[in-house]
Amino acid sequence: MTPQRIAVFGTGYVGCVSAACLANLGHTVVGLDRDLSKVAVIRAGKAPFYEPGLDDLLAANVAAGRLTASSDPAEALADAEIALICVGTPSLRCGDPDLTQLRRAVAEIASCAAGRSRPLIVVVRSTVAPGTCEEIVSPILAGTSCAVVSNPEFLREGIAVKDFMDPGLIVVGGRDPEAVRTVAGIYHKLGVPPRLVALRTAEMIKYACNAFHAVKIAFANEIGALSDSMHVDGVEVMATLCQDSKLNSSAAYLRPGFAFGGSCLPKDLRALSSRARQTNVEVPLLTSALSSNAEHLKRSTEAVLEWGDIRIGIVGLAFKEDTDDVRESPVLGLLEALIGKGRRIRVFDPHVELGNIHGANRAFALQTIPHIGRLMRSLDDLLTWSELLVIAQKPDGALLERIQSCRLPVVDLVSGKLPRSGFSVIVSAAA
Ligand SMILES: NC(=O)c1ccc[n+]([C@@H]2O[C@H](COP(=O)([O-])OP(=O)(O)OC[C@H]3O[C@@H](n4cnc5c(N)ncnc54)[C@H](O)[C@@H]3O)[C@@H](O)[C@H]2O)c1
Repeated sequence: MTPQRIAVFGTGYVGCVSAACLANLGHTVVGLDRDLSKVAVIRAGKAPFYEPGLDDLLAANVAAGRLTASSDPAEALADAEIALICVGTPSLRCGDPDLTQLRRAVAEIASCAAGRSRPLIVVVRSTVAPGTCEEIVSPILAGTSCAVVSNPEFLREGIAVKDFMDPGLIVVGGRDPEAVRTVAGIYHKLGVPPRLVALRTAEMIKYACNAFHAVKIAFANEIGALSDSMHVDGVEVMATLCQDSKLNSSAAYLRPGFAFGGSCLPKDLRALSSRARQTNVEVPLLTSALSSNAEHLKRSTEAVLEWGDIRIGIVGLAFKEDTDDVRESPVLGLLEALIGKGRRIRVFDPHVELGNIHGANRAFALQTIPHIGRLMRSLDDLLTWSELLVIAQKPDGALLERIQSCRLPVVDLVSGKLPRSGFSVIVSAAA
């Protein structure tokens, strides 16, 4: 690892911890703040707020001469190779982040960088919405030789030093490969390989992480409250749920794709919501899962409708691959909506033959689409008849090959990327 000279803009919770930890990794760091009292406290080797372990780290690195503090951007940037922006981005009343501090910090960097011969990498560590680096930071720096990189921070207050030194995730995004490599390199000693992504992907990952954490907490609290109302130990329920590292504490179900369905998830969510109503427990998160799913099916339907009045071949009828279960299959909802709009449809499913499915399964299909039997086709017939293919179920390798070889336009609903109008998707993501 080449030690870098880093100017950290903003010495609040994120900036001060980052400055102390980066200095401890061997970099030469200047912490910059408009707040003179923070600058004075850091210069004295103390933290401007309480954070376990931070005082010791600051004292050691100030004493070693690797960490200083300043209130003058020109002084902080004079020797710097990297400007790490850690200023606040608090909420505006509308919910958007207030970028006043960010704009001012970037403007200060731009004025110091004008006429500078050595390159400077401007790294946005503050949490900002996707597109901020491209649409706000880069234009302010136009005319300078600064490269812009996104490197969001994931630390938690109270355990921030440990989170920095032992991170679960390091994300670096940018267009300039050398700048991205340099920023990734400052964390080399931590032994965690940074994930290198596109600029706006890095920004989105930070929001996705925080949204996920919030949803996890709300989920656990709703299950806890509901369990309590039914004289069940919710702590034990959640602790046991977490024991399943295949389906629960895992990446399972965490990939964007098509809507969920089947004979269990919708039914059991309805049962929980019903019980919550009876016991007067408000569970808006659990209740909204079904409306979220309906909204997703609507988006998928609109993506198909945008292709206009052409012959549409649907691949998959069951609620997922490798089953013939069509109960509450989202594909039936898709068919209903497309038929309602007068679209011409044919359907192929490798495992569904109406003559071979029975009981509730058959009744569900016929109840939703009474003439479903007339729409079912063999794969050969479907590929010959269709002008557009809609992938509504993950195809196996052989099926995928057939789909690709017929060179029809494809709307791939399982890829997690909804195609826009007139845009034909190559179905590799479904493999
Ligand atoms: N606090 C957290 O736990 C946490 C964790 C991850 C990410 N974040 C994100 O990191 C960013 C910073 O959060 P924070 O809690 O450290 O904020 P903070 O309000 O504690 O600190 C921001 C600091 O920036 C300084 N500042 C503002 N403009 C400046 C400028 N032009 N030059 C120099 N200094 C300037 C302020 O004086 C302040 O000390 C936010 O975007 C936040 O969402 C926070």
